[in-house]
Amino acid sequence: MIRVLFVCLGNICRSPMAEAVFRHRVKLAGLEDQIEADSAGTGDWHVGEPPHHGTARLLADNQIEYDHCARQLTARDLNHFDYIITMDEANRRGVGRLGKGRARVAALLDYAPHARVAEVPDPYYTGNFEEVYHLVSQAADGLLAAIREEHGL
Ligand code: 4NP
Repeated sequence: MIRVLFVCLGNICRSPMAEAVFRHRVKLAGLEDQIEADSAGTGDWHVGEPPHHGTARLLADNQIEYDHCARQLTARDLNHFDYIITMDEANRRGVGRLGKGRARVAALLDYAPHARVAEVPDPYYTGNFEEVYHLVSQAADGLLAAIREEHGL
C-alpha cells in the first residue's frame, strides 16, 4: 500500500479537502487497493472536529465524498506514510519540528506546475474555499500521475 498524508495547520479546511479530492481521483483510477490517503494538522485546536463548512460545501457541490475527523500530526506519521504533502511553508516547518522519518515531504503545489502560487492560501482567513478547491484539484492530478509513474501503476 502506498500511503499519502496531506498536512495543513488546523486539519479542517485545506488538508481534508486535498485528502477527499485525491481519494476521489484514486477511486476513479481504480487504485484504491494500492493508494490510501489521510490528513492531519500540525496544530491541535480542532482535533475531533469535522471539516469546516466551507470545505464541506465545496466537496458536496462537486459530489466528492468525505469522512473525516480532525487529528494532529504525530512523529509516527513520518514513518507510517510514504508521502507527506504540505499546503504551505509553515506546515513544512511544523513537520520538520517532529523530526525525520522515511516519508518524503513535498509541497502540494509542486505537483501543480501551472498554478500561479507556490502555497495554498489558508481559507480559514481568506474565506476563499473555491480557490483552494481549484488548486487542490490541479495538484491532485499531478500528484497521482507522479505516484503512478514512480510505482509503475
Ligand atoms: P487549515 O485552516 O489549516 O486549512 O485547516 C485553519 C484552520 C484553523 C486555524 C487555522 C487554519 N486556526 O487557527 O484555528
